Amino acid sequence: MKATISRKAHFNAAHRLYRKDWSDEKNDAVFGKCNNPNFHGHNYELIVSVTGDIDQETGYVIDMKALKDIIKIEVEDAFDHKNLNVEVPEFAELNPTAENIAVVIYNKIKPRLNPSFDLEITLYETPRNFVIYSGE
Ligand code: NI
Repeated sequence: MKATISRKAHFNAAHRLYRKDWSDEKNDAVFGKCNNPNFHGHNYELIVSVTGDIDQETGYVIDMKALKDIIKIEVEDAFDHKNLNVEVPEFAELNPTAENIAVVIYNKIKPRLNPSFDLEITLYETPRNFVIYSGE
């Protein structure tokens, strides 16, 4: 029997969307206000979903406390109240779009889980805009 368990988390972070190798004009045309050189912030809402077999002894797929701790270390401690472009090494050369942030979060959490588990990351950049990444 498989089940999917999910935990919500939250972080605030600043970013700027741009490519160093593009002109200011092209960055403005593609990224608009998100290319503001003074950065801007979002209240990111995260849902981490883990799918796996229900352990017959514990009745758990994964201990929620263990998942909570992984999210705290890998995401909240790493991203919360940070400027993603400047302070988070994964985005030194990677545009911190919601898509890329979801991929980075997936890549940080996946190695900490039982390899048989499937992982899905849902990241809300605004209440209306969100991205789902599950490792494909
Ligand atoms: Ni933005």
